[in-house]
Amino acid sequence: MKHLISLHETSTQEVEQILTLAAKLKAETKAGISHPLLKGKTLGMIFTKSSTRTRVSFEVGMYQLGGYPLFLSSNDIQLGRGETIYDTANVLSRYLDGIMIRTFAHSDVTDLAKYGTIPIINGLTDLLHPCQALADLLTIQEHKGKFKGLKLAYIGDGNNVAHSLLYACAKVGMDMSVATPAGYECNAEIVENAKADAKISGSNIVITNDPVEAIKDADVVYSDTWVSMGQEAEKEARVKIFLPYQIDKKLFAKAKDDAIFMHCLPAYRGFEVTEDVIDSAQSVIFDEAENRLHAQKAVMAILMA
Ligand code: CP
Ligand code: NVA
Repeated sequence: MKHLISLHETSTQEVEQILTLAAKLKAETKAGISHPLLKGKTLGMIFTKSSTRTRVSFEVGMYQLGGYPLFLSSNDIQLGRGETIYDTANVLSRYLDGIMIRTFAHSDVTDLAKYGTIPIINGLTDLLHPCQALADLLTIQEHKGKFKGLKLAYIGDGNNVAHSLLYACAKVGMDMSVATPAGYECNAEIVENAKADAKISGSNIVITNDPVEAIKDADVVYSDTWVSMGQEAEKEARVKIFLPYQIDKKLFAKAKDDAIFMHCLPAYRGFEVTEDVIDSAQSVIFDEAENRLHAQKAVMAILMA
């Protein structure tokens, strides 16, 4: 494994390796055992979009691994003034041991990997959010103890989070149903790739416009914002279209009795999910947020040690 850009390009064995190391690092952190696996290493963190979890968990994670994180806002570096990805990748490769980038165009991330000589970690693009999906797998493993035989229902926008969950479920053999409004379905190429992976792992992927069909008998119910970063101008129109996809108590009740509720956060209560679901005892959103730290530490240790 050279980069973490898309879980489609990560093998099932590599996903398992990340989850195993993440669980170990989590237990050690809780026990106060230090693990300076990246002593003397540096991670550049380029942000073209806002972040709470990604920024803080990578920064703290790098510190806990004995390394040094550099926060590079695109407003402050020359990339934001038009310096090319080619030059940026070449220059930063001379200073750093790895780059985490959050940006709009997915091609910016693949170009960084193509032109640079150091590991690149995708911290979210318009297309994918692999670090989130790895933290989600770790959370599901903790709460359910397995992947095979489980069903995850994603209800809402066919966005970056949905795409990475499709790849993640397909890799580990978990069934996944996605329900989106017509016109807001997942990227067709991603669905095709995930279905190919699911065939190998033996899981089932269902794409529908019917939230009730998707959520039926689900073990894990997942939602994300209806308005992703960069779509703010579409907010009013989207809210109207997505309202039938709101996860409220009545819809959530159609999942299994012991279903868990997940959300990558930030969440907008009263839109994609109601308070009585996201703040209920079945919600594991803060375990999920915490697990960003542990999963990403494992990714960094594997790529950069
Ligand atoms: N879930 C997630 O990536 O959160 P941030 O946007 O706060 O980083
Ligand atoms: N789909 C959301 C995820 C935020 C973590 C976005 O891209 O804004």
